[in-house]
Amino acid sequence: MALVAANLCYTYAAGTAYEVPALLGLDVHLECGDLLVIAGTTGSGKSTLLRLLAGLLRPSSGTVGLDGSPASDRRSRGRAAMVFQNPESQFFAESLLADVSFGPRNLGAQEPARLAADALAAVGLDPDTFGDRSPFTLSGGEARRAAIAGALAMRAPYLLLDEPTAGLDRRGRRDVVLAIGRERHRAGVAVVTHDPEEFLPSATRVLALHAGETAFAGSVDELLANPSPYLEAGLRLPEVVMAQLFARGRGLPVGAMEFEPEAAAARLSHARGTRS
Ligand SMILES: Nc1ncnc2c1ncn2[C@@H]1O[C@H](COP(=O)(O)OP(=O)(O)OP(=O)(O)O)[C@@H](O)[C@H]1O
Ligand SMILES: [Mg+2]
Repeated sequence: MALVAANLCYTYAAGTAYEVPALLGLDVHLECGDLLVIAGTTGSGKSTLLRLLAGLLRPSSGTVGLDGSPASDRRSRGRAAMVFQNPESQFFAESLLADVSFGPRNLGAQEPARLAADALAAVGLDPDTFGDRSPFTLSGGEARRAAIAGALAMRAPYLLLDEPTAGLDRRGRRDVVLAIGRERHRAGVAVVTHDPEEFLPSATRVLALHAGETAFAGSVDELLANPSPYLEAGLRLPEVVMAQLFARGRGLPVGAMEFEPEAAAARLSHARGTRS
């Protein structure tokens, strides 16, 4: 059981004078328990990739299979839930509860209103306070959380999130990261993000795009062992990790990288002690 993309290519407006080759031969593998972090500079193809994985676009060539069926097939309906980069573009109902319960109701789930209320609570939006609100009256951060709730409520086996923490404050980021962490027990999750601090520590795989191609694909350990292709693609690692990489570059025996500043400081001072 997996979401598998093989040699995936996509060109916008193919065959016209305006054609844009957006993806050039990508491979993706996602299964339950995975957290795939997708990184890449602006315009590198991240949102296009998620739309293809969700079956919202058909590949120009290559394949996307969800548990063995093409992603755009009727049998794949509801199996990959996607949160768009612009959450407002997802809303349509008069109340937030109606909006968030639409997905599970449409898929024939039992108790869609309860699933919606649980999903709103999971992202830190109290269903009693927010359930009756029009989704179009929400603040940017509330709208982002509400859009994520809409995907969580579907309880889909694959969850595809396009910049889920963009525009959120610290508490909002924490709520969303915790909610995504809980989903991984029952789903495969792919996250497009510019926030490596939030997602790299618990990622199982990293895919970095550069101009529609794979600049790096591998585990977090592999990334930190050889970060050059990732950094050369214009991408950022957490400052705390950069400090350890610089120390390693100066010959300190840093060992495994820490993501927490306090643990990193302890490791660096220990490494210094062993050298002198
Ligand atoms: N509807 C479209 N028609 C034509 N070109 C498009 C369309 N949507 C995206 N593109 C182009 O495809 C490329 C990839 O776009 P995409 O939205 O996937 O990038 P992205 O990595 O998500 O960028 P960002 O970080 O800015 O969200 C870009 O060159 C973009 O201009
Ligand atoms: Mg995008």
